[in-house]
Amino acid sequence: MTAQLISGKQISEEIRGGLRKEVEQLLSQGLTPGLAVVLVGEDPASQVYVRNKEKACQDLGFYSEVHRLPASTSEEDLLVLVDKLNHQDSIHGILVQLPLPQHIHEKSVIDAISVKKDVDGFHPVNVGNLMIGDDSLLPCTPAGVIELIKRAGIDISGKHAVVIGRSNIVGKPVSLLLQRENATVTMCHSRTANMKELTKQADILVVAIGRANFVDASFVKPGAVVIDVGMNRLDNGKLAGDVDFESVKEISGPITPVPGGVGPMTITMLMMNTVLAAKRLKG
Ligand code: GUN
Repeated sequence: MTAQLISGKQISEEIRGGLRKEVEQLLSQGLTPGLAVVLVGEDPASQVYVRNKEKACQDLGFYSEVHRLPASTSEEDLLVLVDKLNHQDSIHGILVQLPLPQHIHEKSVIDAISVKKDVDGFHPVNVGNLMIGDDSLLPCTPAGVIELIKRAGIDISGKHAVVIGRSNIVGKPVSLLLQRENATVTMCHSRTANMKELTKQADILVVAIGRANFVDASFVKPGAVVIDVGMNRLDNGKLAGDVDFESVKEISGPITPVPGGVGPMTITMLMMNTVLAAKRLKG
């Protein structure tokens, strides 16, 4: 049996259709959502991500600025730029693309971004608000995972969700969001003993461990929902998820592909966060 495919591409298009209408309305009220993206250095994957964000802004009618800075940029100069963007009225969202060159402390830069313009949801205040369930700008990939599951018509409440991976960007926040949706959540990571015993109990399995094709059919309960957050570049240049899609789809329930699953949702959530930040800043 082959599982139902959850198309992040299609669901993203649906959400962006709604966003486009909302932006038209905001434009007519004199509010143009503005996003600034800062890229330091020439990491090839980051360049692609930044270009895609720029295209999404153009497509939705946002104002956008992309600041491409050399890898030699000092932390001080980057902080000066962040401060300028914090005070710039045409900008409602600021995203500094990670990873940064080694001589720049990521934490210092994230901490410097205005909490209200932190459309990545990485600032400690937004992370804390997520933890205690207060209103905050949510990190884009975890928010995209939840939106994808809901819009695929899957009920999260009461389900056992197992998350593989404990990163600050995906594993930890997606666990909190699943819990907020009333799932019972188990977290696994690279040091988990007997991982398969746990993953085989999952009604919903979210995989964000950063290892190509790590999860095969032996990890999965028949009929389970499988969400693959992995984006691994193979030696042959192809993109692979953390899930061995071909074997898992034979026994799983609804499953996301890579590419075309979680990836498009991340950018869509960034666009949603920028609209939300613009509305909140305008008051
Ligand atoms: N690099 C990889 N993913 C992300 C992300 O979601 N936000 C930022 N700022 N950088 C990233």
